[in-house]
Amino acid sequence: MKAAIRNQYGGPEVITIEEVPTPSPKKGEVLIRVHATTINRTDGGILRGKPYLIRAFSGLSRPKKRTPGTDFAGVVESIGANVAQWKVGDRVMGLSDQGDTASQAEYLVVPASFHMIGIPESISFQNAVASLEGAHYALNFLNKFSLKPGDQVLINGGTGAIGSAAIQLAKAAGLHVTATSSTEYIDKVKSLGADEVIDYTKDDITSQDTVYVHVFDAVGKRTFFECRRILKPDGIYISTELGPNWQNIWLALVTPLLGGRKVIFPVPVDIPNTLETMRHHLESGAFSPLIDRSYSLAEIREGYTYVESGQKKGNVILELDTER
Ligand SMILES: NC(=O)c1ccc[n+]([C@@H]2O[C@H](COP(=O)([O-])OP(=O)(O)OC[C@H]3O[C@@H](n4cnc5c(N)ncnc54)[C@H](OP(=O)(O)O)[C@@H]3O)[C@@H](O)[C@H]2O)c1
Repeated sequence: MKAAIRNQYGGPEVITIEEVPTPSPKKGEVLIRVHATTINRTDGGILRGKPYLIRAFSGLSRPKKRTPGTDFAGVVESIGANVAQWKVGDRVMGLSDQGDTASQAEYLVVPASFHMIGIPESISFQNAVASLEGAHYALNFLNKFSLKPGDQVLINGGTGAIGSAAIQLAKAAGLHVTATSSTEYIDKVKSLGADEVIDYTKDDITSQDTVYVHVFDAVGKRTFFECRRILKPDGIYISTELGPNWQNIWLALVTPLLGGRKVIFPVPVDIPNTLETMRHHLESGAFSPLIDRSYSLAEIREGYTYVESGQKKGNVILELDTER
């Protein structure tokens, strides 16, 4: 089978496509034919081993996993002994939020207990896989706010993978959503369900009159101190980034003690809930992922370069079945 391989940390240039033996499932394992995976910001971080903190689990001097990948959508190709929950032909989607899934390959072996779930019949592999990584962070960050229908939330970065998912999930929770976008994508962000869209290239979100119960900086571009004045006195700020000098970590420790506006810095943990929730939303039609573009395995370096540009709109798909 063909697989993306890298033996060291670095930029997209460290990835090569190699012919490697197709793995076979042992007892309790499942072989998946991967049809689609995403190239996402988690993969970008794991590729470079940055921030250095992540090397504590991804490998100190070199990556533990030679094949990158976070998520997958595919079909169960074969199963090992003692696997009761999956059968050959099942369409499945799965995720690990540590970028250690090794899914940027044509085949993948995982334990039968891996975080994966059946894909609803009407949903394509591309739409399934684009509903995992960004949505996982969106869901696990949004559920740290105590969401009440009608609450005003500001989602900064409505065109990101996390932001575009957060808009739809916040609307499903009954919130009033204001999101930001550059000029060209305002209509796209409205079509995701945002009640209001601010063009961040023209208007400064931190100097508007509206105040929000929640500010979710889904692209980590505006600090708590900048957003304080647009937060209600008991409002909460969450960012996907650590912030300058990792300030969101110490602010999350200090602000709850001070009372008033608060920073939360969540560690997203609940993958099973993400999978259940996203399958439900895909099935009901409440969620439709924003997909930017697709790359073949041969084009993977270009894919990573684009994702690292910080300009992707929603999700970038790596197609694993284009050459069949
Ligand atoms: N904490 C975690 O566990 C975790 C996990 C994964 C990712 N992350 C971080 O989360 C962030 C978002 O990831 P993602 O995959 O959702 O992002 P992404 O898809 O790479 O989002 C980039 C989008 O942000 C928009 N953007 C750029 N600058 C902006 C600004 N100043 N204001 C508003 N929008 C802006 C860009 O649109 P234009 O080009 O049109 O401006 C682009 O569409 C990244 O910083 C990533 O490192 C954190």
